[in-house]
Amino acid sequence: MEPLKWWQKTAVYQIYPRSFQDTTGSGEGDIQGITQHLDYLAKLGVGAVWLTPIYPSPMVDNGYDISDYTSIDGRYGTIEDMDTLIAEGKKRNIRVVMDLVYNHTSDQHAWFRESKASRTNAKADWYIWRDAKEDGSAPTNWRSIFGGPAWTWCEERQQYYLHTFAKEQPDLNWENPDVRQALYDAANFWIAKGVGGFRIDAIVYIKKPAVFTDGPVDGADGLSSIHKMIANTPGILDFLHEFRRKVFDGHDIFTVAEANGVTPADLPHWVGQDGAFSMLFEFSHVNLEFPEGEIWCRTYDWPLTKLKRALTDSQKATAENGWYPIFFENHDQIRSVSRYFPAGTDRKKAAKAMATVLFTLRGTPFVYEGEELGLANTAFPSLDDYNDISTHGQYQIALDEGYLPAEALRIVQAHSRDNARTPMQWSTAPQAGFTDGTPWLPVHGDYADWCVETEEKDPDSVLRYYRQLEKLRFQSDASPILLAGRYDELLAEDEEIYAFKRTLDGQATITLVNFTNKNVDYTAYLTQGAAVLLGNYDDPQPGRLRPAEAVVYRIGGESC
Ligand code: GLC
Repeated sequence: MEPLKWWQKTAVYQIYPRSFQDTTGSGEGDIQGITQHLDYLAKLGVGAVWLTPIYPSPMVDNGYDISDYTSIDGRYGTIEDMDTLIAEGKKRNIRVVMDLVYNHTSDQHAWFRESKASRTNAKADWYIWRDAKEDGSAPTNWRSIFGGPAWTWCEERQQYYLHTFAKEQPDLNWENPDVRQALYDAANFWIAKGVGGFRIDAIVYIKKPAVFTDGPVDGADGLSSIHKMIANTPGILDFLHEFRRKVFDGHDIFTVAEANGVTPADLPHWVGQDGAFSMLFEFSHVNLEFPEGEIWCRTYDWPLTKLKRALTDSQKATAENGWYPIFFENHDQIRSVSRYFPAGTDRKKAAKAMATVLFTLRGTPFVYEGEELGLANTAFPSLDDYNDISTHGQYQIALDEGYLPAEALRIVQAHSRDNARTPMQWSTAPQAGFTDGTPWLPVHGDYADWCVETEEKDPDSVLRYYRQLEKLRFQSDASPILLAGRYDELLAEDEEIYAFKRTLDGQATITLVNFTNKNVDYTAYLTQGAAVLLGNYDDPQPGRLRPAEAVVYRIGGESC
Protein backbone atom coordinates (compact mmCIF):
# COMPACT_ATOMS: atom_id res chain seq x y z
CA MET A 1 0.00 0.00 0.00
CA GLU A 2 1.14 3.52 -0.79
CA PRO A 3 2.00 5.77 2.16
CA LEU A 4 -1.09 7.51 3.49
CA LYS A 5 -1.75 11.10 2.39
CA TRP A 6 -2.40 13.93 4.85
CA TRP A 7 -6.17 13.75 4.44
CA GLN A 8 -6.14 10.03 5.23
CA LYS A 9 -4.45 10.70 8.56
CA THR A 10 -6.82 13.29 9.98
CA ALA A 11 -10.47 14.01 10.64
CA VAL A 12 -12.46 16.58 8.64
CA TYR A 13 -14.92 18.93 10.34
CA GLN A 14 -17.93 20.14 8.37
CA ILE A 15 -19.10 23.68 9.05
CA TYR A 16 -22.50 25.05 8.12
CA PRO A 17 -21.34 28.69 8.03
CA ARG A 18 -24.75 30.27 8.39
CA SER A 19 -25.16 28.50 11.74
CA PHE A 20 -21.62 28.44 13.14
CA GLN A 21 -20.77 31.84 14.68
CA ASP A 22 -22.15 35.29 14.05
CA THR A 23 -19.69 38.12 14.76
CA THR A 24 -21.79 41.04 13.47
CA GLY A 25 -25.15 40.65 15.21
CA SER A 26 -26.88 39.88 11.90
CA GLY A 27 -28.25 36.57 13.18
CA GLU A 28 -26.26 34.67 10.55
CA GLY A 29 -22.84 33.10 10.95
CA ASP A 30 -19.86 34.50 9.04
CA ILE A 31 -16.28 33.74 8.01
CA GLN A 32 -14.72 35.73 10.85
CA GLY A 33 -16.75 33.56 13.20
CA ILE A 34 -15.04 30.49 11.75
CA THR A 35 -11.58 32.06 12.08
CA GLN A 36 -12.41 32.89 15.69
CA HIS A 37 -12.96 29.22 16.48
CA LEU A 38 -9.91 27.75 14.74
CA ASP A 39 -8.27 27.07 18.11
CA TYR A 40 -11.33 25.10 19.21
CA LEU A 41 -11.04 23.06 16.00
CA ALA A 42 -7.30 22.58 16.44
CA LYS A 43 -7.93 21.27 19.96
CA LEU A 44 -10.41 18.81 18.48
CA GLY A 45 -7.56 17.65 16.25
CA VAL A 46 -9.14 18.15 12.84
CA GLY A 47 -6.90 18.72 9.81
CA ALA A 48 -9.49 20.25 7.48
CA VAL A 49 -12.76 22.13 7.58
CA TRP A 50 -15.30 21.72 4.80
CA LEU A 51 -17.49 24.81 4.43
CA THR A 52 -20.88 24.41 2.79
CA PRO A 53 -21.29 27.13 0.11
CA ILE A 54 -20.43 30.71 1.05
CA TYR A 55 -20.63 32.16 -2.46
CA PRO A 56 -23.16 34.86 -3.40
CA SER A 57 -26.59 33.25 -3.35
CA PRO A 58 -30.26 34.21 -3.14
CA MET A 59 -30.39 31.45 -0.47
CA VAL A 60 -33.38 29.58 -1.85
CA ASP A 61 -31.50 26.40 -0.91
CA ASN A 62 -29.19 27.95 1.66
CA GLY A 63 -26.27 28.64 -0.62
CA TYR A 64 -26.64 25.61 -2.91
CA ASP A 65 -28.11 28.07 -5.41
CA ILE A 66 -24.99 29.99 -6.40
CA SER A 67 -25.00 33.23 -8.39
CA ASP A 68 -21.21 33.70 -8.62
CA TYR A 69 -18.61 30.96 -8.18
CA THR A 70 -15.59 33.14 -7.47
CA SER A 71 -16.66 35.54 -4.77
CA ILE A 72 -18.12 35.54 -1.28
CA ASP A 73 -21.65 36.40 -0.20
CA GLY A 74 -21.69 39.70 1.70
CA ARG A 75 -23.56 38.07 4.58
CA TYR A 76 -20.47 35.91 5.23
CA GLY A 77 -17.84 38.58 4.70
CA THR A 78 -15.29 39.31 1.99
CA ILE A 79 -12.70 37.52 -0.09
CA GLU A 80 -10.08 39.03 2.28
CA ASP A 81 -11.84 37.28 5.17
CA MET A 82 -11.43 34.04 3.24
CA ASP A 83 -7.74 34.71 2.67
CA THR A 84 -7.34 35.29 6.40
CA LEU A 85 -9.22 32.10 7.25
CA ILE A 86 -7.07 30.06 4.86
CA ALA A 87 -3.86 31.60 6.24
CA GLU A 88 -4.84 31.25 9.91
CA GLY A 89 -6.00 27.69 9.24
CA LYS A 90 -2.62 26.80 7.72
CA LYS A 91 -0.85 28.04 10.86
CA ARG A 92 -2.81 25.43 12.79
CA ASN A 93 -2.54 22.68 10.16
CA ILE A 94 -6.18 23.08 9.23
CA ARG A 95 -6.91 23.24 5.50
CA VAL A 96 -10.08 24.86 4.16
CA VAL A 97 -12.24 22.75 1.85
CA MET A 98 -14.80 24.38 -0.45
CA ASP A 99 -18.09 23.05 -1.77
CA LEU A 100 -18.44 22.94 -5.57
CA VAL A 101 -22.05 22.99 -6.71
CA TYR A 102 -21.69 22.26 -10.40
CA ASN A 103 -24.86 20.48 -11.41
CA HIS A 104 -26.79 23.73 -11.32
CA THR A 105 -26.50 27.45 -10.63
CA SER A 106 -28.98 29.90 -9.15
CA ASP A 107 -31.54 31.30 -11.58
CA GLN A 108 -29.98 34.66 -10.61
CA HIS A 109 -26.53 33.71 -11.97
CA ALA A 110 -25.52 35.99 -14.86
CA TRP A 111 -25.13 32.88 -17.05
CA PHE A 112 -28.76 31.89 -16.58
CA ARG A 113 -30.07 35.40 -16.98
CA GLU A 114 -28.33 35.59 -20.34
CA SER A 115 -29.33 32.07 -21.32
CA LYS A 116 -33.02 32.62 -20.67
CA ALA A 117 -33.17 35.91 -22.58
CA SER A 118 -33.39 34.36 -26.05
CA ARG A 119 -32.74 31.18 -28.00
CA THR A 120 -29.84 32.76 -29.85
CA ASN A 121 -27.62 34.44 -27.24
CA ALA A 122 -24.05 33.33 -26.54
CA LYS A 123 -25.13 31.26 -23.53
CA ALA A 124 -28.33 29.96 -25.11
CA ASP A 125 -27.34 26.32 -24.58
CA TRP A 126 -25.58 26.64 -21.22
CA TYR A 127 -28.64 25.12 -19.54
CA ILE A 128 -31.08 22.33 -20.47
CA TRP A 129 -33.83 23.88 -22.59
CA ARG A 130 -36.62 21.94 -24.32
CA ASP A 131 -39.80 22.75 -26.20
CA ALA A 132 -43.15 21.98 -24.65
CA LYS A 133 -45.07 18.92 -25.78
CA GLU A 134 -47.78 19.63 -28.34
CA ASP A 135 -50.37 20.19 -25.63
CA GLY A 136 -48.07 22.71 -23.94
CA SER A 137 -47.12 20.41 -21.09
CA ALA A 138 -43.60 19.74 -19.81
CA PRO A 139 -41.24 17.56 -21.89
CA THR A 140 -41.35 14.71 -19.32
CA ASN A 141 -43.17 13.74 -16.13
CA TRP A 142 -40.09 14.00 -13.90
CA ARG A 143 -40.42 15.11 -10.27
CA SER A 144 -37.66 17.34 -8.92
CA ILE A 145 -35.85 16.21 -5.80
CA PHE A 146 -37.54 18.88 -3.68
CA GLY A 147 -41.00 17.92 -5.01
CA GLY A 148 -43.09 19.29 -7.90
CA PRO A 149 -42.24 19.11 -11.61
CA ALA A 150 -38.56 19.18 -12.69
CA TRP A 151 -39.40 21.49 -15.62
CA THR A 152 -40.33 25.17 -15.40
CA TRP A 153 -41.74 27.26 -18.21
CA CYS A 154 -39.81 30.36 -19.29
CA GLU A 155 -41.89 33.06 -20.93
CA GLU A 156 -38.96 34.83 -22.62
CA ARG A 157 -37.76 31.76 -24.47
CA GLN A 158 -41.12 30.02 -24.75
CA GLN A 159 -39.37 26.87 -23.58
CA TYR A 160 -39.02 24.74 -20.47
CA TYR A 161 -35.77 24.44 -18.51
CA LEU A 162 -34.77 21.46 -16.39
CA HIS A 163 -33.97 21.60 -12.68
CA THR A 164 -33.08 18.50 -10.69
CA PHE A 165 -33.71 20.50 -7.49
CA ALA A 166 -35.74 23.72 -7.02
CA LYS A 167 -36.95 25.81 -9.97
CA GLU A 168 -34.47 28.46 -8.82
CA GLN A 169 -31.64 25.94 -9.44
CA PRO A 170 -31.50 25.39 -13.23
CA ASP A 171 -29.27 22.51 -14.36
CA LEU A 172 -26.15 23.37 -16.35
CA ASN A 173 -25.51 21.76 -19.73
CA TRP A 174 -22.25 19.85 -19.23
CA GLU A 175 -22.26 18.77 -22.90
CA ASN A 176 -21.11 22.29 -23.75
CA PRO A 177 -17.29 22.50 -23.41
CA ASP A 178 -17.46 26.23 -22.58
CA VAL A 179 -19.64 25.44 -19.57
CA ARG A 180 -17.18 22.83 -18.36
CA GLN A 181 -14.22 25.17 -18.84
CA ALA A 182 -15.96 27.96 -16.91
CA LEU A 183 -16.55 25.56 -14.02
CA TYR A 184 -12.96 24.30 -14.06
CA ASP A 185 -11.70 27.89 -14.08
CA ALA A 186 -13.72 28.66 -10.95
CA ALA A 187 -12.31 25.62 -9.12
CA ASN A 188 -8.79 26.57 -10.18
CA PHE A 189 -9.38 30.04 -8.75
CA TRP A 190 -9.88 28.47 -5.31
CA ILE A 191 -6.91 26.14 -5.71
CA ALA A 192 -4.76 29.19 -6.38
CA LYS A 193 -6.09 30.64 -3.12
CA GLY A 194 -4.69 27.63 -1.29
CA VAL A 195 -7.70 25.52 -0.41
CA GLY A 196 -7.10 21.95 0.74
CA GLY A 197 -9.75 20.31 -1.37
CA PHE A 198 -13.33 20.19 -2.51
CA ARG A 199 -16.59 18.54 -1.66
CA ILE A 200 -18.44 18.16 -4.94
CA ASP A 201 -22.19 18.46 -4.77
CA ALA A 202 -24.82 16.29 -6.48
CA ILE A 203 -22.34 15.22 -9.13
CA VAL A 204 -24.24 12.11 -10.26
CA TYR A 205 -26.76 14.31 -12.09
CA ILE A 206 -24.46 16.25 -14.42
CA LYS A 207 -24.83 13.90 -17.40
CA LYS A 208 -28.31 13.76 -18.89
CA PRO A 209 -29.64 10.95 -21.09
CA ALA A 210 -29.49 11.56 -24.86
CA VAL A 211 -33.25 11.14 -25.17
CA PHE A 212 -35.70 12.30 -22.50
CA THR A 213 -38.57 9.90 -21.82
CA ASP A 214 -41.32 9.70 -19.19
CA GLY A 215 -40.55 7.58 -16.15
CA PRO A 216 -42.80 5.29 -14.08
CA VAL A 217 -45.26 7.27 -11.93
CA ASP A 218 -44.48 6.64 -8.28
CA GLY A 219 -46.63 9.05 -6.29
CA ALA A 220 -50.03 10.68 -5.91
CA ASP A 221 -48.74 13.70 -7.88
CA GLY A 222 -48.53 11.63 -11.10
CA LEU A 223 -44.79 12.28 -11.41
CA SER A 224 -41.68 10.12 -11.61
CA SER A 225 -38.49 10.55 -9.55
CA ILE A 226 -35.85 12.40 -11.59
CA HIS A 227 -33.15 10.58 -9.66
CA LYS A 228 -34.18 7.29 -11.25
CA MET A 229 -34.17 8.86 -14.70
CA ILE A 230 -30.87 10.74 -14.79
CA ALA A 231 -28.49 9.65 -11.99
CA ASN A 232 -25.22 8.12 -13.20
CA THR A 233 -26.06 8.26 -16.89
CA PRO A 234 -23.45 6.39 -18.99
CA GLY A 235 -20.81 8.79 -20.25
CA ILE A 236 -20.64 10.70 -16.96
CA LEU A 237 -17.16 9.31 -16.28
CA ASP A 238 -15.73 11.07 -19.33
CA PHE A 239 -16.73 14.40 -17.80
CA LEU A 240 -15.39 13.44 -14.40
CA HIS A 241 -12.01 12.32 -15.68
CA GLU A 242 -11.64 15.52 -17.66
CA PHE A 243 -12.55 17.43 -14.47
CA ARG A 244 -9.79 15.58 -12.62
CA ARG A 245 -7.20 16.21 -15.35
CA LYS A 246 -7.99 19.89 -15.72
CA VAL A 247 -8.41 20.76 -12.07
CA PHE A 248 -7.36 18.28 -9.41
CA ASP A 249 -4.29 16.54 -10.82
CA GLY A 250 -0.95 17.72 -9.54
CA HIS A 251 -2.26 19.40 -6.39
CA ASP A 252 -1.93 18.18 -2.82
CA ILE A 253 -5.68 18.36 -2.21
CA PHE A 254 -8.49 15.88 -1.71
CA THR A 255 -11.86 15.62 -3.40
CA VAL A 256 -14.97 14.03 -1.97
CA ALA A 257 -17.96 13.77 -4.23
CA GLU A 258 -21.58 13.44 -3.20
CA ALA A 259 -22.45 10.43 -5.31
CA ASN A 260 -25.57 8.46 -4.62
CA GLY A 261 -25.94 5.07 -6.24
CA VAL A 262 -22.45 4.38 -7.61
CA THR A 263 -22.13 0.59 -7.66
CA PRO A 264 -19.12 -1.21 -6.16
CA ALA A 265 -18.31 -2.49 -9.66
CA ASP A 266 -18.00 1.07 -10.94
CA LEU A 267 -16.05 2.29 -7.95
CA PRO A 268 -12.52 1.95 -9.45
CA HIS A 269 -13.53 4.52 -12.11
CA TRP A 270 -14.78 6.91 -9.46
CA VAL A 271 -12.13 6.74 -6.71
CA GLY A 272 -8.56 5.62 -6.14
CA GLN A 273 -5.55 5.58 -8.41
CA ASP A 274 -7.54 5.64 -11.65
CA GLY A 275 -10.71 7.22 -10.30
CA ALA A 276 -11.96 10.76 -10.70
CA PHE A 277 -12.08 11.59 -6.96
CA SER A 278 -10.28 10.79 -3.70
CA MET A 279 -13.48 9.75 -1.90
CA LEU A 280 -17.22 9.37 -2.46
CA PHE A 281 -20.06 10.05 -0.07
CA GLU A 282 -22.65 7.37 -0.54
CA PHE A 283 -25.79 7.16 1.49
CA SER A 284 -26.94 3.59 2.04
CA HIS A 285 -26.22 3.78 5.79
CA VAL A 286 -28.18 7.01 6.31
CA ASN A 287 -31.12 6.27 4.02
CA LEU A 288 -32.06 3.16 6.00
CA GLU A 289 -35.60 4.24 6.74
CA PHE A 290 -36.33 5.08 3.08
CA PRO A 291 -36.36 1.78 1.19
CA GLU A 292 -37.77 3.29 -2.02
CA GLY A 293 -36.29 6.75 -2.41
CA GLU A 294 -36.41 9.63 0.00
CA ILE A 295 -40.08 10.27 0.56
CA TRP A 296 -40.41 11.23 4.21
CA CYS A 297 -43.94 9.94 4.70
CA ARG A 298 -42.92 6.47 3.49
CA THR A 299 -40.56 5.02 6.06
CA TYR A 300 -40.00 1.64 7.62
CA ASP A 301 -38.24 0.31 10.71
CA TRP A 302 -34.86 -1.03 9.73
CA PRO A 303 -33.07 -3.92 11.43
CA LEU A 304 -29.53 -3.30 12.71
CA THR A 305 -28.15 -5.78 10.18
CA LYS A 306 -29.17 -3.33 7.45
CA LEU A 307 -26.93 -0.64 8.91
CA LYS A 308 -24.13 -3.14 9.45
CA ARG A 309 -24.39 -4.47 5.89
CA ALA A 310 -24.26 -0.95 4.45
CA LEU A 311 -21.15 -0.06 6.45
CA THR A 312 -19.44 -3.38 5.77
CA ASP A 313 -20.16 -3.16 2.04
CA SER A 314 -18.60 0.31 1.90
CA GLN A 315 -15.58 -0.82 3.93
CA LYS A 316 -15.05 -3.78 1.61
CA ALA A 317 -15.62 -1.78 -1.55
CA THR A 318 -12.91 0.69 -0.55
CA ALA A 319 -10.47 -1.87 0.91
CA GLU A 320 -8.50 -2.09 -2.33
CA ASN A 321 -9.79 0.88 -4.27
CA GLY A 322 -9.92 4.40 -3.01
CA TRP A 323 -10.71 5.56 0.47
CA TYR A 324 -13.90 5.88 2.49
CA PRO A 325 -15.25 9.12 4.01
CA ILE A 326 -16.89 7.93 7.24
CA PHE A 327 -19.88 10.04 8.25
CA PHE A 328 -23.17 9.80 10.08
CA GLU A 329 -24.24 13.43 9.95
CA ASN A 330 -24.18 16.36 7.58
CA HIS A 331 -26.35 19.36 6.78
CA ASP A 332 -28.88 17.18 4.93
CA GLN A 333 -29.27 14.50 7.61
CA ILE A 334 -31.02 14.38 10.94
CA ARG A 335 -28.86 14.16 14.08
CA SER A 336 -27.42 10.67 14.58
CA VAL A 337 -28.41 10.32 18.26
CA SER A 338 -31.99 10.76 17.08
CA ARG A 339 -31.65 8.21 14.28
CA TYR A 340 -29.65 5.18 15.33
CA PHE A 341 -30.79 4.51 18.91
CA PRO A 342 -34.21 3.71 20.38
CA ALA A 343 -36.10 6.60 22.02
CA GLY A 344 -35.19 6.82 25.69
CA THR A 345 -31.54 5.82 25.23
CA ASP A 346 -29.08 7.87 27.30
CA ARG A 347 -28.07 10.59 24.87
CA LYS A 348 -24.50 10.98 26.03
CA LYS A 349 -23.90 7.26 25.72
CA ALA A 350 -25.52 7.14 22.29
CA ALA A 351 -23.48 10.08 20.97
CA LYS A 352 -20.27 8.50 22.24
CA ALA A 353 -21.21 5.14 20.77
CA MET A 354 -21.68 6.68 17.30
CA ALA A 355 -18.40 8.55 17.68
CA THR A 356 -16.65 5.29 18.54
CA VAL A 357 -17.77 3.79 15.24
CA LEU A 358 -16.89 6.99 13.38
CA PHE A 359 -13.31 6.94 14.66
CA THR A 360 -12.56 3.23 14.43
CA LEU A 361 -13.78 2.30 10.94
CA ARG A 362 -11.29 2.53 8.06
CA GLY A 363 -11.38 5.87 6.24
CA THR A 364 -11.41 9.58 7.02
CA PRO A 365 -13.88 10.54 9.78
CA PHE A 366 -16.10 13.51 8.89
CA VAL A 367 -17.53 15.26 11.97
CA TYR A 368 -20.46 17.61 11.42
CA GLU A 369 -20.69 20.75 13.56
CA GLY A 370 -22.34 19.97 16.89
CA GLU A 371 -21.99 16.21 16.44
CA GLU A 372 -18.99 16.44 18.79
CA LEU A 373 -21.38 17.80 21.43
CA GLY A 374 -24.07 15.13 20.92
CA LEU A 375 -26.62 17.59 19.55
CA ALA A 376 -30.08 16.14 18.88
CA ASN A 377 -33.08 16.80 16.64
CA THR A 378 -35.49 19.59 17.44
CA ALA A 379 -39.18 20.02 16.52
CA PHE A 380 -40.42 23.47 15.56
CA PRO A 381 -44.11 24.01 16.42
CA SER A 382 -45.23 25.17 12.98
CA LEU A 383 -44.31 24.64 9.33
CA ASP A 384 -43.60 28.36 9.04
CA ASP A 385 -40.66 27.96 11.44
CA TYR A 386 -38.91 25.71 8.93
CA ASN A 387 -36.51 27.35 6.50
CA ASP A 388 -35.39 24.25 4.56
CA ILE A 389 -36.93 24.12 1.08
CA SER A 390 -37.16 20.32 1.03
CA THR A 391 -39.14 20.36 4.29
CA HIS A 392 -41.83 22.40 2.56
CA GLY A 393 -41.78 20.11 -0.49
CA GLN A 394 -42.05 16.98 1.66
CA TYR A 395 -44.90 18.51 3.68
CA GLN A 396 -46.82 18.94 0.42
CA ILE A 397 -46.00 15.38 -0.66
CA ALA A 398 -47.38 14.12 2.69
CA LEU A 399 -50.60 16.11 2.16
CA ASP A 400 -50.88 14.75 -1.41
CA GLU A 401 -50.54 11.24 0.01
CA GLY A 402 -53.54 11.87 2.27
CA TYR A 403 -51.98 12.84 5.60
CA LEU A 404 -53.72 15.48 7.73
CA PRO A 405 -51.78 18.74 8.29
CA ALA A 406 -50.89 17.80 11.91
CA GLU A 407 -49.57 14.41 10.75
CA ALA A 408 -47.63 16.00 7.89
CA LEU A 409 -46.03 18.39 10.39
CA ARG A 410 -44.98 15.49 12.62
CA ILE A 411 -43.47 13.75 9.59
CA VAL A 412 -41.36 16.72 8.60
CA GLN A 413 -40.34 17.42 12.20
CA ALA A 414 -38.82 13.94 12.31
CA HIS A 415 -36.93 14.25 9.03
CA SER A 416 -36.30 17.94 8.34
CA ARG A 417 -32.80 18.99 7.32
CA ASP A 418 -33.24 21.92 9.73
CA ASN A 419 -32.68 19.42 12.55
CA ALA A 420 -28.99 19.66 11.76
CA ARG A 421 -28.98 23.35 10.84
CA THR A 422 -29.91 24.97 14.15
CA PRO A 423 -27.16 27.28 15.42
CA MET A 424 -24.00 25.86 16.97
CA GLN A 425 -24.21 25.74 20.76
CA TRP A 426 -21.18 27.51 22.19
CA SER A 427 -22.17 28.67 25.63
CA THR A 428 -24.90 29.17 28.22
CA ALA A 429 -25.26 32.83 27.14
CA PRO A 430 -28.47 33.88 25.35
CA GLN A 431 -28.82 32.27 21.89
CA ALA A 432 -26.13 29.77 22.94
CA GLY A 433 -23.47 32.39 22.27
CA PHE A 434 -24.12 32.05 18.55
CA THR A 435 -25.34 35.62 17.99
CA ASP A 436 -26.16 38.88 19.73
CA GLY A 437 -29.01 39.34 17.29
CA THR A 438 -31.98 37.22 16.29
CA PRO A 439 -30.79 33.89 14.89
CA TRP A 440 -31.94 33.07 11.34
CA LEU A 441 -33.11 29.68 12.65
CA PRO A 442 -34.13 29.13 16.29
CA VAL A 443 -31.48 27.83 18.68
CA HIS A 444 -32.27 24.41 20.18
CA GLY A 445 -33.89 24.78 23.60
CA ASP A 446 -31.43 22.38 25.26
CA TYR A 447 -28.34 24.51 24.77
CA ALA A 448 -27.54 25.18 28.42
CA ASP A 449 -26.80 21.49 28.98
CA TRP A 450 -25.43 20.73 25.51
CA CYS A 451 -22.90 23.38 24.60
CA VAL A 452 -19.13 23.77 24.44
CA GLU A 453 -18.94 25.75 27.71
CA THR A 454 -20.86 23.13 29.71
CA GLU A 455 -19.10 20.20 28.07
CA GLU A 456 -15.66 21.67 28.68
CA LYS A 457 -16.43 21.57 32.41
CA ASP A 458 -17.79 18.02 32.42
CA PRO A 459 -15.00 15.40 32.39
CA ASP A 460 -17.50 12.84 31.10
CA SER A 461 -18.87 14.96 28.23
CA VAL A 462 -19.28 13.96 24.61
CA LEU A 463 -16.81 16.70 23.62
CA ARG A 464 -14.10 15.31 25.92
CA TYR A 465 -14.73 11.83 24.55
CA TYR A 466 -14.25 13.11 20.98
CA ARG A 467 -10.85 14.46 21.96
CA GLN A 468 -9.92 11.10 23.46
CA LEU A 469 -11.03 9.31 20.31
CA GLU A 470 -9.03 11.67 18.16
CA LYS A 471 -5.91 10.88 20.21
CA LEU A 472 -6.59 7.17 20.06
CA ARG A 473 -6.99 7.18 16.33
CA PHE A 474 -4.22 9.53 15.31
CA GLN A 475 -1.68 9.72 18.13
CA SER A 476 -1.57 6.42 20.01
CA ASP A 477 0.13 3.02 19.74
CA ALA A 478 -3.06 1.76 18.15
CA SER A 479 -3.07 4.48 15.45
CA PRO A 480 -1.35 2.42 12.73
CA ILE A 481 -4.02 -0.29 13.13
CA LEU A 482 -6.89 2.20 13.17
CA LEU A 483 -5.52 4.10 10.18
CA ALA A 484 -4.59 1.31 7.84
CA GLY A 485 -5.72 -1.99 9.34
CA ARG A 486 -7.95 -4.39 7.44
CA TYR A 487 -11.66 -4.36 8.35
CA ASP A 488 -13.53 -7.55 9.20
CA GLU A 489 -17.04 -7.67 10.54
CA LEU A 490 -17.75 -9.89 13.57
CA LEU A 491 -21.11 -11.21 14.80
CA ALA A 492 -22.51 -10.28 11.38
CA GLU A 493 -26.00 -11.70 11.99
CA ASP A 494 -26.44 -10.13 15.43
CA GLU A 495 -29.36 -7.66 15.53
CA GLU A 496 -28.19 -5.86 18.68
CA ILE A 497 -24.43 -5.52 18.51
CA TYR A 498 -22.21 -4.06 15.80
CA ALA A 499 -18.74 -5.59 16.11
CA PHE A 500 -15.73 -5.29 13.87
CA LYS A 501 -12.04 -5.94 13.94
CA ARG A 502 -9.20 -3.95 12.43
CA THR A 503 -6.00 -5.90 11.82
CA LEU A 504 -2.47 -4.88 10.90
CA ASP A 505 0.71 -6.96 11.15
CA GLY A 506 -0.60 -9.38 13.77
CA GLN A 507 -2.10 -6.61 15.93
CA ALA A 508 -5.78 -5.77 16.08
CA THR A 509 -8.47 -3.61 17.61
CA ILE A 510 -12.05 -4.73 18.15
CA THR A 511 -14.93 -2.28 18.33
CA LEU A 512 -18.14 -3.43 20.03
CA VAL A 513 -21.28 -1.31 20.14
CA ASN A 514 -24.63 -2.20 21.68
CA PHE A 515 -27.30 -0.45 19.60
CA THR A 516 -30.12 -1.30 22.05
CA ASN A 517 -31.26 0.24 25.28
CA LYS A 518 -30.79 -2.93 27.39
CA ASN A 519 -27.99 -5.25 28.51
CA VAL A 520 -26.84 -7.61 25.78
CA ASP A 521 -24.54 -10.61 26.24
CA TYR A 522 -22.01 -11.81 23.70
CA THR A 523 -19.46 -14.57 23.70
CA ALA A 524 -16.70 -13.40 26.05
CA TYR A 525 -14.28 -15.47 23.97
CA LEU A 526 -14.31 -12.62 21.45
CA THR A 527 -12.34 -10.27 23.66
CA GLN A 528 -10.43 -12.79 25.76
CA GLY A 529 -7.04 -11.45 26.78
CA ALA A 530 -7.84 -8.08 25.25
CA ALA A 531 -7.07 -4.71 26.80
CA VAL A 532 -9.60 -1.88 26.87
CA LEU A 533 -8.45 1.16 24.90
CA LEU A 534 -11.54 3.32 25.33
CA GLY A 535 -15.23 3.00 26.12
CA ASN A 536 -18.27 5.04 27.08
CA TYR A 537 -18.73 3.25 30.45
CA ASP A 538 -16.20 2.70 33.23
CA ASP A 539 -14.95 -0.89 33.61
CA PRO A 540 -16.27 -2.74 30.56
CA GLN A 541 -17.31 -6.30 31.47
CA PRO A 542 -16.23 -9.14 29.21
CA GLY A 543 -19.23 -10.82 27.60
CA ARG A 544 -21.75 -8.11 28.40
CA LEU A 545 -22.57 -4.70 26.92
CA ARG A 546 -24.79 -2.30 28.84
CA PRO A 547 -27.32 0.01 27.07
CA ALA A 548 -25.62 1.85 24.18
CA GLU A 549 -22.23 0.71 25.45
CA ALA A 550 -19.28 1.05 23.11
CA VAL A 551 -15.81 -0.37 23.75
CA VAL A 552 -12.61 -0.46 21.75
CA TYR A 553 -10.34 -3.38 22.67
CA ARG A 554 -6.80 -4.14 21.62
CA ILE A 555 -5.58 -7.64 21.00
CA GLY A 556 -2.20 -8.80 19.83
CA GLY A 557 0.01 -11.78 19.11
CA GLU A 558 -1.51 -15.20 19.84
CA SER A 559 -5.08 -14.04 20.40
CA CYS A 560 -5.18 -11.97 17.23
C1 GLC B 1 -26.79 18.43 -2.14
C2 GLC B 1 -26.62 19.29 -0.91
C3 GLC B 1 -27.96 19.78 -0.47
C4 GLC B 1 -28.56 20.60 -1.59
C5 GLC B 1 -28.57 19.82 -2.91
C6 GLC B 1 -28.82 20.72 -4.08
O1 GLC B 1 -27.50 17.29 -1.90
O2 GLC B 1 -25.97 18.59 0.09
O3 GLC B 1 -27.92 20.52 0.71
O4 GLC B 1 -29.86 20.96 -1.25
O5 GLC B 1 -27.35 19.19 -3.17
O6 GLC B 1 -27.68 21.48 -4.37
